[in-house]
Amino acid sequence: MWSLFKVALVLWATHTIADGRIHSDSSQSPPMGGDQILRGVAYLNSEDGSVYGRLRLDQFFAKRAPTHIYGNITGLSAGQHGIAIATWGNLTKGCGSVGPHFNPDLMTHGAPSDEHRHVGDLGNINGQEPVDITDHKVSLFGRNSVMGRAVVVYARPDDLGKSESGYSRIDGDAAPVIACGVIGRSLTDEFYR
Ligand SMILES: *[C@@H]1O[C@H](CO)[C@@H](O)[C@H](O)[C@H]1NC(C)=O
Ligand SMILES: *[C@@H]1O[C@H](CO)[C@@H](O)[C@H](O)[C@H]1NC(C)=O
Ligand SMILES: [Zn+2]
Repeated sequence: MWSLFKVALVLWATHTIADGRIHSDSSQSPPMGGDQILRGVAYLNSEDGSVYGRLRLDQFFAKRAPTHIYGNITGLSAGQHGIAIATWGNLTKGCGSVGPHFNPDLMTHGAPSDEHRHVGDLGNINGQEPVDITDHKVSLFGRNSVMGRAVVVYARPDDLGKSESGYSRIDGDAAPVIACGVIGRSLTDEFYR
């Protein structure tokens, strides 16, 4: 019974996020229990400034709640581009110092739908369409938290760990990175969380 309730709650949460119906209207009374929403934001840029964009990350503050990653990136060529979350938010050498894909479980690279994947593996985006990803491993708190890490967008498609290339199981053979941005905290319903 309890687990049914939890399933319903997760479905509700996913649905609500997907509908874009979340608001952090401070004039409303604070939401109960696990209803608070955590928010992150990443401003992406390429070295030459030709690719740029803003991605938002929203997640209900509840165990196993999915994270919604959405926004627009301008300047990408048509077609598939790998997208991932790298380990560090260190841009000392631009997108070259963010490290490998965020991988707290020490797995090999995979598709977002794989059980065996890096937490940071987000698959591909279409260069000409808004980004709209809902992911069940990426989190904004706890062990899988991506806060302070970096979103990277690649020049080439991510093969999702399925090709014979030696890089397939590392980054989906998608390198080079063309744009990146550090994920920072954004306004949350509960201001200091
Ligand atoms: C992305 O761009 C479209 C078209 O300009 C706009 O309608 C939409 O609100 C943008 N999405 C986000 C999350 O900024
Ligand atoms: C940031 O990256 C640079 C270049 O890879 C490296 O030399 C430096 O140690 C890193 N800084 C931190 C604080 O990790
Ligand atoms: Zn990976």
